[in-house]
Amino acid sequence: MDSIGSEGLQQGEEALSCPEEGLPQPSDSSELVQDCLQQFKVTVAQLQQIQASLLRSMEQALRGQASPVPAVRMLPTYVGSTPHGTEQGDFVVLELGATGASLRVLWVTLTGIGGHRVEPRSQEFVIPQDVMLGAGQQLFDFAARCLSEFLDAQPVSKQGLQLGFSFSFPCHQTGLDRSTLISWTKGFRCSGVEGEDVVQLLRDAIQRQGAYNIDVVAVVNDTVGTMMGCELGARPCEVGLVVDTGTNVCYMEEARDVAVLDEDRGRVCVSVEWGSFSDDGALGPVLTTFDHTLDHESLNPGAQRFEKMIGGLYLGELVRLVLAHLTQRGVLFRGCPSPALLSQGSILLEHVAEMEDPSAGAARVHAILQDLGLSPEASDVELVQRVCAAVCTRAAQLCAAALAAVLSRLQHSREQQTLQVAVATGGRVCERHPRFCSILQGTVMLLAPECNVSFIPSVDGGGQGVAMVTAVAARLAAHRRLLEETLAPFRLNHDQLAAVQAQMRKAMAKGLRGESSSLRMLPTYVRATPDGSERGDFLALDLGGTNFRVLLVRVTTSVQITSQIYSIPESVAQGSGQQLFDHIVDCIVDFQQKQGLSGQSLPLGFTFSFPCRQLGLDQGILLNWTKGFNASDCEGQDVVSLLREAIKRRQAVELNVVAIVNDTVGTMMSCGYEDPRCEIGLIVGTGTNACYMEELRNVAGVPGDSGHMCINMEWGAFGDDGSLDTLSTCFDASVDQASINPGKQRFEKMISGMYLGEIVRHILLHLTSLGVLFRGQQTQRLQTRDIFKTKFLSEIESDSLALRQVRAILEDLGLPLTSDDALMVLEVCQAVSQRAAQLCGAGVAAVVEKIRENRGLEELAVSVGVDGTLYKLHPHFSSLVAATVRELAPCCAVTFLQSEDGSGKGAALVTAVACRLAQSTRV
Ligand code: G6P
Ligand code: BGC
Ligand code: BGC
Repeated sequence: MDSIGSEGLQQGEEALSCPEEGLPQPSDSSELVQDCLQQFKVTVAQLQQIQASLLRSMEQALRGQASPVPAVRMLPTYVGSTPHGTEQGDFVVLELGATGASLRVLWVTLTGIGGHRVEPRSQEFVIPQDVMLGAGQQLFDFAARCLSEFLDAQPVSKQGLQLGFSFSFPCHQTGLDRSTLISWTKGFRCSGVEGEDVVQLLRDAIQRQGAYNIDVVAVVNDTVGTMMGCELGARPCEVGLVVDTGTNVCYMEEARDVAVLDEDRGRVCVSVEWGSFSDDGALGPVLTTFDHTLDHESLNPGAQRFEKMIGGLYLGELVRLVLAHLTQRGVLFRGCPSPALLSQGSILLEHVAEMEDPSAGAARVHAILQDLGLSPEASDVELVQRVCAAVCTRAAQLCAAALAAVLSRLQHSREQQTLQVAVATGGRVCERHPRFCSILQGTVMLLAPECNVSFIPSVDGGGQGVAMVTAVAARLAAHRRLLEETLAPFRLNHDQLAAVQAQMRKAMAKGLRGESSSLRMLPTYVRATPDGSERGDFLALDLGGTNFRVLLVRVTTSVQITSQIYSIPESVAQGSGQQLFDHIVDCIVDFQQKQGLSGQSLPLGFTFSFPCRQLGLDQGILLNWTKGFNASDCEGQDVVSLLREAIKRRQAVELNVVAIVNDTVGTMMSCGYEDPRCEIGLIVGTGTNACYMEELRNVAGVPGDSGHMCINMEWGAFGDDGSLDTLSTCFDASVDQASINPGKQRFEKMISGMYLGEIVRHILLHLTSLGVLFRGQQTQRLQTRDIFKTKFLSEIESDSLALRQVRAILEDLGLPLTSDDALMVLEVCQAVSQRAAQLCGAGVAAVVEKIRENRGLEELAVSVGVDGTLYKLHPHFSSLVAATVRELAPCCAVTFLQSEDGSGKGAALVTAVACRLAQSTRV
């Protein structure tokens, strides 16, 4: 029998002696009895006070209040929905702790057909006392042995069994299969378990047992199993109440009201753990001396005070303490106690339930008392029944007050005048005690009159419910495995990244030597970064990013910029070259008019962010369009000439195009103006690319062995020779095939803003087709190209509002999602952007190592000027790039400078340098 201590009463021989004379007068004894039983009377006002105080504690805990520590824990259980009824499969259920010194193993078959139930097969095992109080490993090994013993008797395979673990103790859950025990209750006190993940302890024990391959996929509290196991026709139960050896309740709370969860929608099942409720103000007046004695002698004095007034483990003991008290005052059994009456735990719940059962009759009570070594008289029998009734009535009333608090909370959080709710009840006190449930229901109606409550006895103690949760967990675990399999190719390890770095180095060397390489390493004729002596007014154009800008750049001791953004309609970007350049000149003229520059012929620097073979600073042959541009009659043409022809077509406009630069070069120059160590330009925006200052001696095709030349790597095309195919996934292939330049810009299509959203969309489509997402419902919207913008990744991955952001975005896309869906979409975005940032980091590492080796340095300190919407807006991209560079180029101290003014300023500075050089050669 579970242990609960024995002092507070006279002990030993003298306690067992029967008083010869001095038994109390009948009047005194009824007073004594009255006093005793009166202590167990709880008034409606006291019940309402307990109801109110418990509700207060519940809301304090939901808000995450830390001090004073709320009296109840309100533990989220990761059960986010009541059963769909579609769950199916065979599951093993292990129940530990619900029914005291026994554990139960069940084999549950879910048919997936609502209302069609297959009777579970089960077996109960008594847990030896020394196991309940011994080492935790011993307890879990015992459980694993019982599992095998049960399964040995079942016609089942030894492989691929899925188990739901009903563990009826207060636990912090961090997932459906991760749960840390907070503290033991109810006669258990195994060492080495509190603070540990009980699922892992069970998995380890099953492993040690080695008989069956069992996957523990879910752990649930017994109240959750009780709630999930019951149905009221179409309406599922939303409250699970257990009164067995211990007592507790769970219910479906609004997720937004559970502070610890980052959720703003849907519901989550919360285990209240009301057993620990103790509010001296509310409970103090109803606690009797017997409660204090019981608590004092229990395994966990001061803890679970509320449970010790209601739980079946304690009701018998309370009755015993009262009977022993009355006996030693001579009121009962002629003042002759028996050893059993004086020994703790000798009166069980079953005894109390029977003795109270009006159908049991006096004879049965007599028999039970005789079994306890007592010689009851008829008056004793009647008084014992009154004591049992007093103890159990109070227990049921207190339980009702607590349940009424939960119902008030539900009513409040659902903003409902009248609450319709079904409460599943489980546990032997509910099942076996003759009057407990009727008193409970009657008192609830008294305390929560505006709630229409249906009480649904759980059919199998929650086994079915645990199997339901296990089925959900199994489905989610299967989904998680499919998600991991799908995302695994995106998780690049050190060796893979180092291989990309090495591949890029090789391609750089070949490109510089003018050999065929996916990296064209284009000389830019920019030989120096600005030295601060530049002066003058310059016009600049910035084409190729998200926006087309025209800028007026005034360079004095500092740089002032006036700019205007103009749109480039897709029809123009993919129209004729003439149309495109005429549109550019229109914008320039409009800008000049607005800035009062009309008729002035300022030197102009043209940031043209596409691969150009430059023949000089103001001559650049477009090699091929990228990033959704595809204007005809431009590839193979000198872009500066195309611009000059457009200027000519527009009479009365004078423009002096001095330089054409790539946006990477413009960005490097712009940042170089502030930090002379800036010798690399990096763009991660619509497209991606990098440039850097290379030793002229290494640049084939450009005369000269000394000095430097800025090289536009055009790394977007890296891998177009297949060197990245090992890393490319089917999703990359889908994006590439759907692009206007299939087979081209492979590196760019794994990194840049124009493509990441599409990669994510294809992965979401794939996961939906596997039934992992959106319940397998493909929506038209998600099949729409470019519907999932890359900026969504930045929003979704923002640390602050992750899941809410995901919901908002996906609901705007008309996608019905569950919280699990939201989490998975977040993980997909993280995997895609992480790969992009790591690949980008591997590229930068290749460049800085090239410069370090160029200069034969042990250590290199260098800065990188960076621009591009993805790099600037994504919450983690820049730090992931920097981390990858540190990992792959540890001898380089790399500083990333975000360009504030874009590369238009850089183009103007290149123009200014050109003008200064031209000036100096003229004088
Ligand atoms: C800035 C620069 C542009 C560059 C762009 C890339 O705006 O001024 O020259 O092309 O960044 O980023 P984006 O995200 O706009 O493609
Ligand atoms: C435990 C709860 C459990 C209840 C009923 C309490 O002692 O703390 O987790 O639900 O007993 O078994
Ligand atoms: C272009 C590069 C440009 C990069 C960033 C790529 O698509 O080929 O020239 O630097 O995008 O805008």
